[in-house]
Amino acid sequence: KTKIIIDTDPGVDDALAICMALNSPELRVKALTTVFGNVSVEQATQNALFLSQFAHDLPVYTGAAAPLIIPPNGYPAHVHGQGGFGDFPLPTMPADLLAQSLPAADYLVQATREEPGDITLVALGPLTNLALALQLDPSMTQRVKQVVVMGGAAHTTGNVSPVAEANMYADPHAADLVFGADWPITMVGLDVTEKTILNEALLATLPDDTQGQFLKQASAFYIDFYRQAMGLDGCMVHDPSTIAYLLNPALFNHEPGRVRVIAEGLAIGQTAIAPPHLEFMQAGWEDVPVNNICTDVDSQGVLDTLLSAL
Ligand code: BDR
Ligand code: CA
Repeated sequence: KTKIIIDTDPGVDDALAICMALNSPELRVKALTTVFGNVSVEQATQNALFLSQFAHDLPVYTGAAAPLIIPPNGYPAHVHGQGGFGDFPLPTMPADLLAQSLPAADYLVQATREEPGDITLVALGPLTNLALALQLDPSMTQRVKQVVVMGGAAHTTGNVSPVAEANMYADPHAADLVFGADWPITMVGLDVTEKTILNEALLATLPDDTQGQFLKQASAFYIDFYRQAMGLDGCMVHDPSTIAYLLNPALFNHEPGRVRVIAEGLAIGQTAIAPPHLEFMQAGWEDVPVNNICTDVDSQGVLDTLLSAL
């Protein structure tokens, strides 16, 4: 089994990704770590605790409430709803269902010390917790199996600005630290996630158990946003694409590239990408690690993987 820790700002598509991972026997989800993003970190933790009830033993660790340096941008309630799960009302959680006291970044350091080389980090929100963990222990890069990041845009436009994707835009300094560190990263960005559309008819095939009902109701709001904002029949499959990548990497095309994230000015949050072979034009790029950037996807394959897991 692939051991994963999911760093997340749930979020409707985060919830889809987490449920997909929890239902995949190939994966063992060790913990959820929460970060501000789609909602406040307090709400993200409540939402993660709610999702943890779909698993047997799934600890939740609370992470960063705000970006490293820039002021927070606010939360996109029009996309994910006020509480993050569309108009699904979060039930009162059992009083003994609490987050762990260790902060998320410390947990990431600790978990990778306990199981060096074994853990894959899946990042579904702003990269603040991963950056904080790197600051606590830079040698952590050597103990992580791989990092799969939902975020960025290589050959396509952004989704919060013409050039920036939301998770990069939310904390560009953190994202730049993560992409600058010496660990193997796969970037699952808008180039692939915007190509896979989940519509209501497909969602309706989910079972009518508690989890299925929750996902259907939460996604209906998210799908409405895509319909109104872009005229799409369905929602883009951002976060679950990372889980599809882990389950079946052959569904994706990728290219090697060196990623930096622009941290100021009009292009803030843009993933700037240089090729692996720099020839004579180095200008500092030789120090930026070469990572793996998804460029194309078998969308039908991703949908099949998602729906068969759920
Ligand atoms: C990303 O931003 C969030 O709104 C989604 O959950 C996803 O992680 C897409 O740009
Ligand atoms: Ca997310």
